[in-house]
Amino acid sequence: MAGEGSSLLGASPLILSLATLLIAVLCKNFVGASNKWPRRVAINKESVLRSLGIRLGDIPTTLVLDGAVAVDSLVRRADVFSDRPAGGPSTILSDGRHPNITSVPYGPRWVALRRNITSEAFHPVRGLARAAPQRARGAAALVADIASSSSGNNGDGVVPVRDCLYKAVFALNVATCFGDGAVDAGHVDAMRLAQQEFLGMVPGFRVFATFKKVARLLYRDRWKQAVHCRRRQEELYIPLIRACQERRRSAGAGAGAGGTRTTTSYVDTLLDLEIPVEGDPRRRWKLSEGDMVSLVSEYLGAATGAVVAALEWTLANLVTQPDVQSRLRREVDGEEASCGYVRAVVLEALRRHPPVPAVQRYMATKVMVGSTPVAGGTMVLFSLEDISRDDKVRLLRICY
Ligand code: HEM
Repeated sequence: MAGEGSSLLGASPLILSLATLLIAVLCKNFVGASNKWPRRVAINKESVLRSLGIRLGDIPTTLVLDGAVAVDSLVRRADVFSDRPAGGPSTILSDGRHPNITSVPYGPRWVALRRNITSEAFHPVRGLARAAPQRARGAAALVADIASSSSGNNGDGVVPVRDCLYKAVFALNVATCFGDGAVDAGHVDAMRLAQQEFLGMVPGFRVFATFKKVARLLYRDRWKQAVHCRRRQEELYIPLIRACQERRRSAGAGAGAGGTRTTTSYVDTLLDLEIPVEGDPRRRWKLSEGDMVSLVSEYLGAATGAVVAALEWTLANLVTQPDVQSRLRREVDGEEASCGYVRAVVLEALRRHPPVPAVQRYMATKVMVGSTPVAGGTMVLFSLEDISRDDKVRLLRICY
């Protein structure tokens, strides 16, 4: 099987295109010749490949629906379940050269990248506390945007809350990614539009996750779009990364120099990062600009999509449950001593509508998932959506 695969990958583009065409013509003739077949059958690349038993981008997958099995795998045996599937969008777009945290295989690079984000951006008293003023300004801008949209001239009373949320959250993430005030409003808008365009295309890029040479030949236009997306990200992010580097130089903020820097953006942490060489931890290497483009794209995408989805679901449920809304209002206005109810509502919203519906892991070798043996070369998909709907884990009885 491996031999067949490699000879196919080695074939010239012309031969492959001709082979595809020939198969399509044969299939069409066959369909036309038989009276039993429906008169109109769509013949396209997907149907031809499917009839040959090939589904580009598909990896055999085991689905986990049991919470106890998920905790055992992802928490207790985390070292065994640490490999992410390699074919993430940034890896595909950069031809495997610039993976990000979601797609890099487990090893010193993954550990350094993961530790970097958790010790700064996600850290309660570092990144999160430092970004408090930016969050407050973001929330005020969001309220002002919704208010001005609702009193706008269109007169239909419809406010596109999702757009307002997306704009506010994306702008906040740009500030924590590149530095407060480091990016002008026009550039933020351009990045947001490029990111939304990119996310809209991501499902289509899945075909490039396996047999990529064949997939690129068969889906030339899609591949051109992928290359265009990556170039656009480079055009938008690299000047900002360089500007950040320049600011650090002029502020004398180099590693250990005790400079005058007062904020640390995600890009600052990436510029500082030194990754141990696999097998020789005394030697270290720095991220390239291309690596940073993938990591910035991941940060902006993950930090915006998940938060907007969580906010949108929470707001939708609060609209239909005014009693929950009033109690929240009382707590936020300080009429109640603790923030326990706010916390419970947030947790319940995340439980009922997890913004990231599944966690994926790639198994290079055979492994036991619960009591089920799973073969090497398989993906394991932990369905957070199904697991969190198990009534045993319900925290607050709000009917979301
Ligand atoms: C409602 C809020 C959020 C939820 C529910 C959420 C959930 C998740 C989940 C389930 C994963 C997959 C983890 C895994 O595979 O082990 C993930 C990955 C990630 N998230 Fe979030 N996230 C949220 C907000 C954010 C924010 C605000 C940021 C950035 C500031 C962020 C950055 C990332 C990054 C970089 C990854 C990839 C790292 C990795 O896979 O370990 N997320 N997120």
